[in-house]
Amino acid sequence: MKKNTSAPDAKSETLNMQSVLSMRSSGYYSQRTAGAKHAIDSVLPLMKEALGHLPVSDMLRFADFGAADGGTSAALWTEIIAHLRQSGDGRAIEILYTDLPSNDFSTLFKTMQGMHGDPSVAYQSRYENVFVHGCGTGFHRQLMANSSLALGFSATAMHYVSEKPCEIEEHVHMVGANPDERAQFARRAAEDWEKILLARAAEMQEGARFIVLNFGIDEKGRFLGNTGGHSMFDKFNDHWRALLNAEKITRDEFRRATFVQHYRTVEEFEAPFADSDGAVSKSGLRLKSTRTQLTECPYYRAFQASEGAMSAADYAASLIPTMRSWSETVFLSALDARPRAEAQAIVDEFYQSYEDEVAQNPEGHAMDYIHVIMMIEKT
Ligand SMILES: C[S@@+](CC[C@H](N)C(=O)[O-])C[C@H]1O[C@@H](n2cnc3c(N)ncnc32)[C@H](O)[C@@H]1O
Repeated sequence: MKKNTSAPDAKSETLNMQSVLSMRSSGYYSQRTAGAKHAIDSVLPLMKEALGHLPVSDMLRFADFGAADGGTSAALWTEIIAHLRQSGDGRAIEILYTDLPSNDFSTLFKTMQGMHGDPSVAYQSRYENVFVHGCGTGFHRQLMANSSLALGFSATAMHYVSEKPCEIEEHVHMVGANPDERAQFARRAAEDWEKILLARAAEMQEGARFIVLNFGIDEKGRFLGNTGGHSMFDKFNDHWRALLNAEKITRDEFRRATFVQHYRTVEEFEAPFADSDGAVSKSGLRLKSTRTQLTECPYYRAFQASEGAMSAADYAASLIPTMRSWSETVFLSALDARPRAEAQAIVDEFYQSYEDEVAQNPEGHAMDYIHVIMMIEKT
């Protein structure tokens, strides 16, 4: 067993944090996250409603905050541009994609230019007067000039907190943390949410809307991968712990696989708007609507629809990569004191053992999405 001998210094901690948050690159993320795309597609009516309230200005600046490789929202933006052009609005459109500096912006730019993925969503090539820009600064800060944003959008990104407030000792995610750890995550998430909203308030033009769908905990206590059957994060924890018990990872590596995420409740999302004396209310932001939504796991649905034609092993082999696309970096980063090949072999074993469990008995294994969807207006 390899011991983790040296504590990482502050600089490598920060770099590590960025890689922990990253999605897998080269289009792997969007190719394996059909559910995220379905959730995005479901807000098209809200986005179209927002188009009816666009500010009066010479050009239109839109932004997609935390866009990853851009693949999951490309169809939505294509529809939005098509809708505007069909309605006779020929104004210049600037679309600013934001993510962390470690993000795979290269795939994103290639997708919009038709050099990668589905050419029907390469809207930059299909429409005149549309300009795609990238921004590699985190969304907790203001990212563009004051009062310049006509329509903001963000999907499945703002559950990432700006800093890990603590390691979770006996689980991998805040949904399984002890009360003290959970309170630390909740505090960090509340501060972050206020920062995010105030930054958007500064950027938005008067009348502009911000449509944001985030992972969260719904009124029934459900969250990603925990909607009735097995809880996915408990399964991550079980399989990661099995590696600890088998002395394949150290205790420190076990605890360092803490997801830098907080799933806010509806109440936590709405809190800044409920306080009429608070900074967010004073910034001019108003909450127009909130709803929660379950998006069914497309892989489980396909398995059920096959009525036995798809084997349990094939189902398991389709389900695990969608979990892996966004979670792998967390486990790999926990092993970053090891040579890369050794760390990768351990992480491969981790996902293989989860896949084997699903293949053995797929009942109750799925990754349904739970989103809290909000429409916010700058008054
Ligand atoms: C699960 S992906 C969602 C991607 C896409 N919006 C979707 O819905 O499919 C989350 C994205 O948020 C990004 N992210 C996390 N923290 C961020 C931050 N502070 N600022 C900008 N992007 C961030 C991650 O890098 C990642 O690309």
